[in-house]
Amino acid sequence: MENKYEVVKSQIKEQLLATKIKPGEKLPSIRAAAKRWTCSVNTAIRAYQELEKEHLIYAVPKSGYYAVLRSASSAQTTIERIDFSAASPDPQVMPYKDFQHCLNRAIELYEDQLFAYSDPQGFFSLRRELEKHLAHSQVFAEPSNICVVSGGQQALHLLASMPFPNGKTAVLVEQPTFHGMLRSLELLGITTLGIERTMDGIDLDELERHFRNNQIKFFYTVPRFHNPLGACYTEAQKKEIARLAKRYDVFILEDDYLADMEISGKTDPIYSYDPSGHVVYVKSFSKIMLPGLRLATVVLPSSLMETFRMFKASCDSSTSVLSQAALELYFKCGMYEHHAEMIRERYRLRMECLADACRRHLPPTFRFEIGKAGIFSRTLLPESINPNDLIAALHHQNVRITSTDQSYLRTFKRDNGLRVSIIQTDADQIERGIALLAETAAALEQKQKKEGLWRVTDWRE
Ligand SMILES: Cc1ncc(COP(=O)(O)O)c(C=O)c1O
Repeated sequence: MENKYEVVKSQIKEQLLATKIKPGEKLPSIRAAAKRWTCSVNTAIRAYQELEKEHLIYAVPKSGYYAVLRSASSAQTTIERIDFSAASPDPQVMPYKDFQHCLNRAIELYEDQLFAYSDPQGFFSLRRELEKHLAHSQVFAEPSNICVVSGGQQALHLLASMPFPNGKTAVLVEQPTFHGMLRSLELLGITTLGIERTMDGIDLDELERHFRNNQIKFFYTVPRFHNPLGACYTEAQKKEIARLAKRYDVFILEDDYLADMEISGKTDPIYSYDPSGHVVYVKSFSKIMLPGLRLATVVLPSSLMETFRMFKASCDSSTSVLSQAALELYFKCGMYEHHAEMIRERYRLRMECLADACRRHLPPTFRFEIGKAGIFSRTLLPESINPNDLIAALHHQNVRITSTDQSYLRTFKRDNGLRVSIIQTDADQIERGIALLAETAAALEQKQKKEGLWRVTDWRE
């Protein structure tokens, strides 16, 4: 015998498939559903939950359940997930085998060194490799100024925690910016100020005012392929930031997390324009290869190194030496550069597909600017669309995407944007995902118009 919820579920499903309940239409509240299908509230909840699992309806928090915003017949087919929210590299292109080889070789070569406590600043022979590796991006540093950390996130957190020789305590961040940095600053209770960043950069006069008038310890910036904007600073902007840093004794925390994605030969970091020792350069290895290794590097001016070492040592003694030694060999045998080249080209092509799909599918009320490389871009929605409604509707069509909300300080004016990542979507998924995004947004607007009309009629009555 069928359970009652199954009966209710199949009745609602029939109405959905016959579009008696239209795509985007709100379903009766749980109580109303219980009354209509003469069942208990629990049965109605269970029926809705089962329909949700089948991607026929979706829930909007504090609002209710809605029929999915595409034709009911197509909703019957299983939809493959399209993930525009990911920040972790595509598992399909991770260099597992090559790295496994380097791990085995590292154990043979270094034996017990890998399983003892080690230098908090990092395995020396890796730091020597890093010296060569960083020089390719115009980051010239001695091993004594290079530190290995357990991911870029650890470097950001430690730098936010420790005192700086300029004696200042506040931090300035771009708005929007990488949410991991914002969370660290918030947890540490650090006074944080924001400066607006767009695809064109920041207002450099405003930056100067901040540097002059506020007690800024450091300015955290993601100059290249910004998260979430995808924007890059021009050479002139980077030079000016370096000049202002020196003039006002403010440090720059330069997060170059996508340095290896660079496709233009002559794009140097802020670090290369600063002879005064005011730039801390952080480079993560997570986006190019295996984020689970937790490996990144920091180049510090001598004035910061001792304090940083102390904070690093008291945090985790040292980064896993096994991972460090394997990375050293991965660099030494040229596998890193080979892999980076492949990834760079792959993501560049995806960004091209994204730009093309956005141009063809998104209506003129959407605003997007897509860089030539990197992994992120932002799409600004018209005011009529609430990003959370759109995200929820897409979620139920197996499209994952995030808003830019978490990239903002609580006190800063937010945009109405979505962050689109291509790191785990191939060309075909980008095409289908952006088409679905446009289709779903149009259906949402349509639904809102209808509900608006209905409300007017209701009010007149
Ligand atoms: C801008 C930026 N910086 C740093 C990180 C941290 O990377 P990890 O800690 O994996 O090295 C991320 C991760 O997404 C990021 O987007």
